[in-house]
Amino acid sequence: MLVREDLNVPMEAGRISDDTRIRAARPTLEKLQQMGARVIVMSHLGRPEGKPNPELSLRPVAEAMGVRFVDDCLKPAGEMGEGEVVLLENVRFHPGDEENDPEFARRLAEQGEVYVNDAFAASHRSHASVVGVAHYLPAYAGYLMLAELEALHRALDDPRRPVVAVVGGAKVSTKAGVLAHLLPRVESLAVVGAMANTFFKARGAEVGSSLVEDSALDAARQVEREGGAKLVLPVDSVIARKAEPGALTRVAGVDGIEPGWMILDIGPATVALLGERLRGAGTVVWNGPAGVAEIPEFAAGTRALGEAIAGSGAFSLVGGGDTAAAVDKLGLTGFSHVSTGGGATLEAMEGKELPGVSILKEADGG
Ligand code: 3PG
Repeated sequence: MLVREDLNVPMEAGRISDDTRIRAARPTLEKLQQMGARVIVMSHLGRPEGKPNPELSLRPVAEAMGVRFVDDCLKPAGEMGEGEVVLLENVRFHPGDEENDPEFARRLAEQGEVYVNDAFAASHRSHASVVGVAHYLPAYAGYLMLAELEALHRALDDPRRPVVAVVGGAKVSTKAGVLAHLLPRVESLAVVGAMANTFFKARGAEVGSSLVEDSALDAARQVEREGGAKLVLPVDSVIARKAEPGALTRVAGVDGIEPGWMILDIGPATVALLGERLRGAGTVVWNGPAGVAEIPEFAAGTRALGEAIAGSGAFSLVGGGDTAAAVDKLGLTGFSHVSTGGGATLEAMEGKELPGVSILKEADGG
């Protein structure tokens, strides 16, 4: 059984700093083990650009999983017992993975009789280990893949109404596709985080030294025009001179920010406003923190927002790398689904079909 997982976990000094993706892979692997399958797991780690790189070896991940490690993904796994799991070395140590080279895919596929794609978080990549192998083997979705697709379907295709989307993060440009796709599907669209600064500036506000994306002022104006009453923007902010731990902070408005000061979080009036919209929501989609959540002085808005979402009783989908990391760091729980995807979740929220998912549908006869 050849299984693609996304074990692309963050590493700090050779140690795994967050094992969420390892834990998320367990249900599929354990089920296959219980069935007595011989399970060969493929994954990437980082972006080694087609060359071996010891810093991006999956060996520490195999150790954390307690499974045997095979030091080249094209090397036969050798004799395996029933229910045994092995992890192959980083598939991106070969250029054929990212190139989706058919011969590389065929050689990977040779290792199994059935292919399971459980790597939702890598399924926006048309790579050999995600898409190519499915041309050579019967292909199925794993439990994590199914859970991710089910959550997206519940939130975006067939939602309980009203639907409230909260989109944050730094840049309007990286979220423009998400905003455009969500707007017609929701009753309220809140824009928070540094990207809201671009909306304030587009309205002609003085935002001091806040992060603003000048090239996205028109995009912001367009969302504001199309959003009408659906669009919710922050009404107050937490400002400081520096985005640093220990910085002196003040609560301010969203206009008239003095030069040298910058908006780094949403303020209490905004938290209250978002709380009102979230009460009674049927579905909430949240992508992007409300402030610089990794610094305690600017984390209160993201924390309060997360608590309001989790406490709303709505079906809640939390997604995108930064949001999941912030939720984890702040210890926020109680969401219906926290996606393991970064770019993949973003693309799904833009309404794009992910190649790793399309190929499974094709394999299933549509
Ligand atoms: C991710 O972390 O978003 C996935 O593992 C995909 O990684 P990539 O952007 O390097 O393809």
